[in-house]
Amino acid sequence: MKGLFLTLEGIDGAGKSSHIDALEALFKAQGRQVTRTREPGGTPLAETLRGMILEQPMDALTESLLVFAARRDHVVRVIEPALARGDVVLCDRFTDATFAYQGAGRGFDPAVLSTLEKWVQSDTEHATKGLLQPEITIWFDLAPEIAAERLAGARVPDKFESQPVEFFKRVAAGYAARAKDAPRFVRIDASQSREAVWQQIEAALAERGLVASQSGGAP
Ligand code: TYD
Repeated sequence: MKGLFLTLEGIDGAGKSSHIDALEALFKAQGRQVTRTREPGGTPLAETLRGMILEQPMDALTESLLVFAARRDHVVRVIEPALARGDVVLCDRFTDATFAYQGAGRGFDPAVLSTLEKWVQSDTEHATKGLLQPEITIWFDLAPEIAAERLAGARVPDKFESQPVEFFKRVAAGYAARAKDAPRFVRIDASQSREAVWQQIEAALAERGLVASQSGGAP
């Protein structure tokens, strides 16, 4: 079976994490092996880098280099081998987050990010048109004001979660700009109820032939 690389994206508080269990169950019910992972992270080295990225202040170039260093280790050790086995790779965030957070959010040069993206994602077995990219990206789109309300009081915020709403407005615009040119993006209206959001996700996967049929189960 051919591997499937699926990513979940959106601003903090958009609710993507609450659907990963259901996605895993959906693909397993179709007889697929699932590798569930996240970025920054997914390997011991990348998880160590994640702690630094989310906790320590640093300039945007340092942050981008660490994010892509973590990504390289993750691609080589986890994502590529899983795709070679024919797994569904469910990855909580990937390079779109770097363009949205470091690029649009922090105002870092997207041309440099594109160069790093090429270095990290081009010499891999599953690169198509020269670059390893997700086959489908589920983008949880939510107004930053609502996301901030959902996040408030939920837990101790990390470096990004404690940014002002203006930062998330830029991040959200970054996602929208990236989605505009990439048909792999599926926009989910994340302002709806959890069940309605799940139905949008299932419908999008069925429409693209990535799951056999809609099973109808809410998470
Ligand atoms: P997140 O995925 O929201 O995990 P959790 O649900 O455990 O908080 O947190 C990861 C944070 O890292 C998020 O604020 C976005 C940020 N991030 C970047 O800034 N750049 C990146 O390239 C990636 C992958 C994440």
